[in-house]
Amino acid sequence: MILTTTFVCFCLASAFNYFRTRRQRSLIKNLKGPFTWPLMGAMQKLLFLTPKNFFQRSTEYLSKYGSLSRCWVFHRLFIPLADLELSRQLLESDTHLETGYELMKDWLGGGVLMCQSDQWQQRHALISGLFGKGNLEQLMDLSRQQADQLQRKLAEKADRKVFDIWETVSPIVLELIVTITCGARPSEEYSKNLEDLSKVYRKRFLSLQSANRFNFWLSSPFMRTRQNRLIKVLNEEHKNLIATHQSQKQLKIADTYQLAPIPTKNFECLLEMLLESKDTQLTTQEICGELNTCNYLGYLLCSSALCFCLVTIARNPSVQQRCVEELNLAQIKDQHQGWDLEKLSYLDAVLQETMRLYPPQVIVGRQLKKDFAYTHSIVGDGDLPFGSEIYINLYELQRSENRYSKANHFEAERFLDSPPELLSFSLGPRCCPARKFSMQLLKTLLAPILANFELLPYGDEVRLDLRLIMGSSNGFQLALKPREIAGNAI
Ligand code: HEM
Repeated sequence: MILTTTFVCFCLASAFNYFRTRRQRSLIKNLKGPFTWPLMGAMQKLLFLTPKNFFQRSTEYLSKYGSLSRCWVFHRLFIPLADLELSRQLLESDTHLETGYELMKDWLGGGVLMCQSDQWQQRHALISGLFGKGNLEQLMDLSRQQADQLQRKLAEKADRKVFDIWETVSPIVLELIVTITCGARPSEEYSKNLEDLSKVYRKRFLSLQSANRFNFWLSSPFMRTRQNRLIKVLNEEHKNLIATHQSQKQLKIADTYQLAPIPTKNFECLLEMLLESKDTQLTTQEICGELNTCNYLGYLLCSSALCFCLVTIARNPSVQQRCVEELNLAQIKDQHQGWDLEKLSYLDAVLQETMRLYPPQVIVGRQLKKDFAYTHSIVGDGDLPFGSEIYINLYELQRSENRYSKANHFEAERFLDSPPELLSFSLGPRCCPARKFSMQLLKTLLAPILANFELLPYGDEVRLDLRLIMGSSNGFQLALKPREIAGNAI
């Protein structure tokens, strides 16, 4: 009896699902994809996907089904995409802007990545303002101070012994990004909470138990409580900062003549910009969402880019040599200002090539709220239907032999003469508003490391894994030796 009832329910649910997705299926008839079981779809493809085997599996998947395919899981239609022509059309469109990063909702909800599409443009413009001309030079001053701090920490490690450079680099990046967003140096506790929260989300990513919000709610009560506590504590800090800023502003207006001027910082932080924006009145929750979004993206993506760049340079002696020669020529001698970043074109190319091979954000997602009509020189014309979840795999896309010659080889020179397209900061209206700043920051942090230390290729090679960002399951191992160059001592 129970078996019969289960069977009947299964048939009814399958039939319902079949009719519900009929229109979508008719539009994607031209796409290949894995076998679709009734109701469950191609669940088997997701079941055994882990952070460690993601890259191997996605390469196998793409070679079997092509760079544009379809994959049903229950009623959800996933479109894995690794084609430059189509990705460009999608990312550059003004219509298909929803990201649909459900996993991050509790933490980043209210921020630019997840806000309603009618608010998105203003939010994006606000954040872009943080990295605008008026503020960028001051942010670079701050970055240089942080680079000095990093040098001091690395000097303690420069004994030719293998260590994981992520452990040293990422706290420095975290501190800098939070200072830029919140306008205050983070306390040890704040940094620890942000780091721990990132770890929780990195653990949840691609986990069957907890990637889906419903499963997470059911299956991981302890982790969920911890996650929510961390979000609450961070947002309490943000609310305190908001209150402090607001009270200072009121004092400024009311008591201009009685009080000594409030000491001004030499840069404007994101929080100030959000509070003082004339066009958009943001709620406290939205402000917290923006701070969380920038802290999360800035901290994890810049740390990943920097660590991959360091281990890559350590393992390519000729690249390291050329970087050092360029740095010697670009050093600003009479001021203690470091290097003229404009003259570091080779280092710039090394960074771009590193991010081509190891894009810090591997997947860029779009959730279609309307059909997306495309034209493609090979696949032909077609429509991706409303409701599809498109996942652009930048790792595969930027290693495609059709677009990049010797695609799996590190060749920084390709970014010198006629640079190929780099999608690691995405493209189009929703591309990263911090692209220029991030490149300058990374060069500012890298230059003194390369000038003061020789990077030694000791330890194990990276083993790629995907936990929210491009990472390495065995860390970023290398060793350092102080350079014996007069004038470059720390
Ligand atoms: C190497 C460093 C970085 C890389 C590779 C990077 C990459 C990206 C990518 C691929 C996107 C598109 C996301 C999507 O559409 O799904 C993005 C968006 C964004 N990035 Fe970055 N990013 C970096 C650094 C930063 C930093 C330092 C900040 C701020 C402190 C930042 C803030 C943002 C914001 C706010 C968005 C959302 C823009 C929008 O949706 O309108 N990023 N970034």
